[in-house]
Amino acid sequence: MKLRIAVLPGDGIGPEVCAEAVAVLQALGLDLELHTALVGGCAIDAQGTALPDEALRIAQDADAVLFGAVGMAKFDKDPTAKVRPEQAILGLRKGLGLFANLRPVKAYDALLDASTLKPEVIRGVDLIILRELTGGTYFGKPQGQSGEAPHRQAVDTTFYTEDEVRRLMIMAFELARGRKKKVTQADKANVMATGRLWRQVAHEVREEYPDVEYEDMYADACAMHLLRNPRAFDIIATENLFGDILSDEASMLTGSMGMLPSASLGDALNRHGYRRGLYEPIHGAAHDIAGQGVANPLAMILSAAMMLRWSFGLHREAERIEQAVARALDDGLRCGDIKQPGTTVLGTREMGQAVIARL
Ligand code: IPM
Ligand code: MG
Repeated sequence: MKLRIAVLPGDGIGPEVCAEAVAVLQALGLDLELHTALVGGCAIDAQGTALPDEALRIAQDADAVLFGAVGMAKFDKDPTAKVRPEQAILGLRKGLGLFANLRPVKAYDALLDASTLKPEVIRGVDLIILRELTGGTYFGKPQGQSGEAPHRQAVDTTFYTEDEVRRLMIMAFELARGRKKKVTQADKANVMATGRLWRQVAHEVREEYPDVEYEDMYADACAMHLLRNPRAFDIIATENLFGDILSDEASMLTGSMGMLPSASLGDALNRHGYRRGLYEPIHGAAHDIAGQGVANPLAMILSAAMMLRWSFGLHREAERIEQAVARALDDGLRCGDIKQPGTTVLGTREMGQAVIARL
């Protein structure tokens, strides 16, 4: 089968890590049809918009999207700027209807000491943050700043429909069924009306899944329990903003943000009958190390593995990539972000090659 993939490397370390993920896919001997486009800050510089029509079209026509990272410090300086690099990823999520973001957090034995947390706390951690991705505070209107100093004001709006909550919760229970059969729904029902809606709808969906254990948790308590006893979790289902925060926190259970892949899925199927999806590392553009060839490509490579599994049904190939990554780590190979005494530190390209050598 021909894998038609939109490759959107973006800014910062995005292009470097994307190149390694593509190299790994090529090494598997897959029939790839790659379409590349600029998105993010580089697209603003070149074309005046973070998500040019051409890039969105390429993404819509593809079976799956590999996405690097977007963001540039120079666009953070003007708080009223109408054009921002982040609009690329938000526009893609919305434009492709990718309402569910899977962020698996799995502790590698080889990296137990790379985390700032104690090995006995993180050993065996295997959870998924299931983040709602096209609603909530990220997209609610009104949003914006008005007035002049000293009377400036700003507003964001958190808005959810029950359909948006229900489809995410259904996915949470379906995922849990194939795993440890537990769903934790994190909200702020003690403060927010949207939180109370999440709780009501989650309880309704739960009725259909009597075989799956379910608990509600306040999002702040969830943040605490993630550090206290992360092994207690299986699926954490939560709204957009809380999912953004909890997934960065959870990434540290693996030692580094450079290890965490993600898949963004909707209900739309691609030409092969699998879910069309966008696959990206959660780490972002990391401009401080961009262009130096030192960024850790493993989260991007693991995102490509998720793509093979979810958008193409190529489970065996996905496992080959995941096992090659685990073997590289077992062999003491590291990038700068996860280096420890006694390990060998590799650059981006060399780490990509090390994975390929272990496929
Ligand atoms: C993420 C990122 C994005 C988000 C940014 C880049 C807009 O932090 O994917 O977690 O907030 O969703
Ligand atoms: Mg984030």
